[in-house]
Amino acid sequence: MSAHQVVYLPGDGIGPEVASSARRVLEAADMEFDWIEKPLGLGAFEAHGDALPQDTVDAIRACGVALKGPSTTPIGGGHVSANVRLRKELELFANVRPVKTVPGLETSHGAIDLVIVRENTEDLYAGLENEVAPGVVTSLKVITDRASRRIARFAFDYAKRWERERVTAVHKANIMKLADGLFLDCAREAKEESDAAGGTIGFDDVLVDALCMHLVTNPGRYDVLLLENLYGDIVSDLAAGLIGGLGLAPGGNYGEDCAVFEAIHGSAPDIAGQGIANPIAMILSGAMMCHHLGRPDAYTRIRRGVASVTRDRKDALTPDLGGTGTTEGLTQAIIEGVQAQPQPA
Ligand code: NAI
Repeated sequence: MSAHQVVYLPGDGIGPEVASSARRVLEAADMEFDWIEKPLGLGAFEAHGDALPQDTVDAIRACGVALKGPSTTPIGGGHVSANVRLRKELELFANVRPVKTVPGLETSHGAIDLVIVRENTEDLYAGLENEVAPGVVTSLKVITDRASRRIARFAFDYAKRWERERVTAVHKANIMKLADGLFLDCAREAKEESDAAGGTIGFDDVLVDALCMHLVTNPGRYDVLLLENLYGDIVSDLAAGLIGGLGLAPGGNYGEDCAVFEAIHGSAPDIAGQGIANPIAMILSGAMMCHHLGRPDAYTRIRRGVASVTRDRKDALTPDLGGTGTTEGLTQAIIEGVQAQPQPA
């Protein structure tokens, strides 16, 4: 089998630590890669004066696939988020974040198996902010028919491909009657289109505040959640917390021509360089990439390998999971766990 050409973006903070773990685990699942390393984030800004050099964007366009570690965005001032720019430039319009209970890791919320489908290109992330008068700032929430329709169709298509049962549109259309009202209308139309095409995916909708309450009281009632950009960002972290923390939640950004795989979490500057970051979210993001590259066998093997470690190798778990292990120790345990898995049929 020929090697997959993939752009490798280590990012900064814990990025290089967890991204290199993911690379090693993917290779342990008998995947062959030709990694093309490119800069992005704080390091790129310091070295090139640009957190997202054009050369990095061009390389992802040419390859079509990237594995990305998290990168820091300064708060308040400083450079514009390289993540937001990347998603816009490559039109990575759909951010998929599966949130599933991890075997062996107890949670106080019961079994969870939901998927967050987040619109990735507009909303308050449009970055259209103005100081209209001293002490008065506006920030524009942009919701378009085109992007809302596109992400809603993606959610129904995803639900069908992954044999899920229901899509729930999340909104605040009682207050933002036009913006969230448009998003909700597009979701309803996507449901009608799905039905017309013979689909059987169910549909309902919920206010984002009620959703948050339901998620901490009865998360099992949700399946695929369809959200605008900002709600999706916030609810993702909440959902990750339900299964044991940010170190466990993977993600993928999909466009028509490119896909970039990255964990939900950020660059965790508070633990960067200490060798204790949890690599699981990044490894599972890598597993999603294997699936995207047409290797569902590697996807399954990696997931099973991770599960074998969270279930049976508590000694290897990192401090965020209540253990005393290190990134390196956990990575090594997962590599052994993956290698011990039989090749799925
Ligand atoms: P964060 O996700 O980096 O960290 C939040 C908390 O979770 C911290 O206590 C951190 O130590 C912990 N944590 C996160 N990932 C972990 C892991 N793998 N293992 C163990 N503990 C982990 O969020 P924060 O602090 O709000 O953001 C830090 C920086 O990351 C910011 O500059 C932010 O803009 C950026 N960021 C980047 C993202 C990306 O590149 N896709 C996504 C989210 C934030």
